[in-house]
Amino acid sequence: VRVLCLKVPSDREWTVAATRDLDRVLVDHAHCEMKAATNALSLALRHPDDLRLVRALTDLAREEIDHFQRVLQTIESRGLSLGTPPVDTYAAELRTAAGRLPRVHRLSPLVDRLLVAALIEARSCERFKLLAGAIKGDDPLRAFYTELFTAEARHFRVLYDLAIVAANGDTELVDARLDALSDREGEIVTRLATKDDRAAIHG
Ligand SMILES: [Fe+2]
Ligand SMILES: [Fe+2]
Repeated sequence: VRVLCLKVPSDREWTVAATRDLDRVLVDHAHCEMKAATNALSLALRHPDDLRLVRALTDLAREEIDHFQRVLQTIESRGLSLGTPPVDTYAAELRTAAGRLPRVHRLSPLVDRLLVAALIEARSCERFKLLAGAIKGDDPLRAFYTELFTAEARHFRVLYDLAIVAANGDTELVDARLDALSDREGEIVTRLATKDDRAAIHG
């Protein structure tokens, strides 16, 4: 299934690897939620004059913290520990790829930051949906991931809409930029799929 703006669907092997080692996926997932929250907060702090942006991003951060705490609860109940954040190659490569796109005069760096965050939400959404479909019906994690995939789809939309505002309403320009970024995102996901260690949300 195609999810949102994604060009490349996850391969079946990801779902197999993730459900085989759900404990590690949960720990990685907790860190992803925390990163989503801190990224939203740091973006908000960089643009203190834009109150609409500050409001939307702090609302988003609040929701990501809620997700984090709920994953944390699951981690605790399974007797797992959080540990230090794993290296997020996916997000790092996506940021690098965005930095390498040709500069567009009318697009502020904020637009790219919002679109990168939107793409991360879109991929998380896709992966949560795959997890929800693969987890057995009586496991409460199934309902949890079903709820989360709809939340992340909404977050994609929030960030995309903020990118349009940040581009002074130029939807066409933002869509072209998102299209270019989605191409890069698809390449990154395809490359990461060749790695052995895939029990991670963006693995
Ligand atoms: Fe989240
Ligand atoms: Fe999110």
